[in-house]
Amino acid sequence: MDIESQVIVRPARNVRGSVSLPGDKSISHRYAMLAAIADGPSRLENYSTGADCASTLGCLGSLGVKWERKTEGGHVIEVQGSGLSLSAPRQPLDCGNSGSTIRMLSGIVAGQKFGTEMAGDESLSRRPMERVITPLKAMGAEIASQNGRPPLRIAGGNLKGINYQMPVASAQVKTCLLFAGLLADGETRIEEPMRTRDHGEVALRAFGAQLERNGGAVSILGGQRLRGIDALVPGDLSSAAFFLCAAALFPGSQITLPGILMNPTRARLLDILVQMGLKISVSHLEEQHGELIGTIDAHGAAWTKAVIAGADTAALIDEIPVLAAIAPYSEGGLEVRDGKELRVKESDRIAAVAANLRKMGAEVEERPDGMVIHGGQHLHGAELDSFGDHRIAMAFAVAALRAEGESTIVGADAAGVSYPAFFEELHRVTSS
Ligand code: S3P
Repeated sequence: MDIESQVIVRPARNVRGSVSLPGDKSISHRYAMLAAIADGPSRLENYSTGADCASTLGCLGSLGVKWERKTEGGHVIEVQGSGLSLSAPRQPLDCGNSGSTIRMLSGIVAGQKFGTEMAGDESLSRRPMERVITPLKAMGAEIASQNGRPPLRIAGGNLKGINYQMPVASAQVKTCLLFAGLLADGETRIEEPMRTRDHGEVALRAFGAQLERNGGAVSILGGQRLRGIDALVPGDLSSAAFFLCAAALFPGSQITLPGILMNPTRARLLDILVQMGLKISVSHLEEQHGELIGTIDAHGAAWTKAVIAGADTAALIDEIPVLAAIAPYSEGGLEVRDGKELRVKESDRIAAVAANLRKMGAEVEERPDGMVIHGGQHLHGAELDSFGDHRIAMAFAVAALRAEGESTIVGADAAGVSYPAFFEELHRVTSS
């Protein structure tokens, strides 16, 4: 075990302060990919510092795209667009831990007239890819996989538009197909079973493409040229969730998060936290390239029962681990339903949450597609496993703040996938 990757979290008395979050992961991936196939240069400020978004840049470099980090911390990226055609890679693309990279970029490489192999780490090699393979094959790509899992070998070119009903609600799949649709002949129409985050659509429009939305369907016409943009990536709301949940643990807490993404397809988290009793206000709202940005102020308060089900589960899919991790401290607890997808994320997030909560002495009812966690429980510190999953590492660092005695997060470096500075920032705003 790598000793470096252990972090000790001590119980806190309060959370107070202001945190600037790294650029939103979903938007960073999409901006980088579209900048790569746009005409002319793009400048992306507050690009995510996480390893996942670096994987996307690495893959784009292997596809002949020139990009550069303009600042020391690497938050400003300049990408020289290659136009719609990229160059054949000399080696397999390394997508690391990033499901977003492999799924969304597969839509772009499927539209290129060369073969590409895409692979990733052990966790990514277990994740289901049929959801992109089936529709991309229907568009004319040839794809080989390991029983529907990475590595993927994609022979692209000559795509034709399709009319596709997505069986799984997934923004990654929707974006993959919109990217492929841009490179295909004719129109591609995608219907989603439930509204998912719309950053793919918003980003395509920002780069100059035209799309049409009709109820639950979105269409794009192939062959449209994109133009490079200068953009600021809003702070990541899914990373902000850890600080908001930390604030929810202490009645006297106060946290300010400036420049955070407020896109309505992501902001369900705020409604749920308000329902649960956190006092939240949003100010300085502005729009940047179609994305809403604002400053969040939150104050801790009592937390009542919450049920997350149906469309809410899809909308909160990345925040459920931290909501579940703090649920035992609430008055009313939390029930999560319709969350089968949680089992095929970077880890099986239902099993991971249940295992760690039990180590802390909590009672958890694990279900095939969700969990029930009663409120009013008393937790103790423990050795907690990240299961190699960034959101599990961060969720349990937050849960550990209210436990009795200290906790060790083993595999804490997983947080670097989306938020390398997380532990320092959490430490900075907590007082013991
Ligand atoms: C993402 C969509 C979600 C989410 C992931 C990022 C995106 O995945 O869990 O962290 O940027 O589109 P699914 O599309 O698999 O639901």
